[in-house]
Amino acid sequence: MFAQNYSASLQDIRKTITNIDGWLTDREVSFLAMAAAHPTAEGDILEIGSYRGRSTVVLAKAKQLAKRSELIAIDPLPNEEPMAEGSDGKRTARALFEHNLQTAGVSDEVEFHQTYSYDLAAEWDRPLRLLWIDGDHSYPSTKQDFDLYAPHITNGGVLAMHDVLSRYDGCIRVFTEDILTSPHFGAAGICGSIGWAQYWSNPEDASFYAPQKQDLLEQLLPLVEYHCQTESPRGLAKLRYKLLRARVPHRRMKPDQWIQSVKTHLASHA
Ligand SMILES: C[S@@+](CC[C@H](N)C(=O)[O-])C[C@H]1O[C@@H](n2cnc3c(N)ncnc32)[C@H](O)[C@@H]1O
Repeated sequence: MFAQNYSASLQDIRKTITNIDGWLTDREVSFLAMAAAHPTAEGDILEIGSYRGRSTVVLAKAKQLAKRSELIAIDPLPNEEPMAEGSDGKRTARALFEHNLQTAGVSDEVEFHQTYSYDLAAEWDRPLRLLWIDGDHSYPSTKQDFDLYAPHITNGGVLAMHDVLSRYDGCIRVFTEDILTSPHFGAAGICGSIGWAQYWSNPEDASFYAPQKQDLLEQLLPLVEYHCQTESPRGLAKLRYKLLRARVPHRRMKPDQWIQSVKTHLASHA
């Protein structure tokens, strides 16, 4: 039943986001939709980094299948120079974001904060079942987002982070140094360029996944030096990078694979 509902919702999501700018690939859209539609724990969904609202709309529409969580999105949405072009002229980043949510019919599903993640953190006290980090990908910012918000992930909740396989140092470093090496994260993987992992307060709940995480860590670690370089690799270095990256499993994930990979920790399942 879930697979059928999810598949119908995904088709609708794909159509809705066609005209929303952003970097999420179709594989990543389907992963995020699955994570929002199939809760593994109690709590809300937090998005750090919304831009034009592409992932915001995916999460807002998919979570309707779960009917459990609020969606909170944070982005300072600074205006670009020159100002972004909307379909009917130049608009502020905020106006474009709001226009996209409204067109998708999800304005009422999103609690938006136009600010930086670190400015909201001091007052943040809401438990999270899904933390989606897609803000500033530099190491200091990604690490700060992880340190400030990961402690709010509930038992069995999921952390997902974009651009682990893209050439930014923050995402791959936090994913390898703070997530794959932590005894509190269990099931973990990569889908497209999204790194994800399931959090457990008791490391015993996560320990079964240690060998799988170790394999993934060993496949990712050789990429770190490339992601920390400002220049793109050339010649043989480029070829080596491409081969190393291709070795990291990052295939599309089907709903049944997701449900088998994660454990569910909800009051109704207790
Ligand atoms: C890669 S884009 C997000 C893309 C969006 N998730 C999507 O799927 O289309 C990164 C966004 O993060 C925002 N950002 C940068 N630093 C941030 C911070 N500390 N807190 C919240 N948002 C931040 C930027 O303004 C930018 O809009």
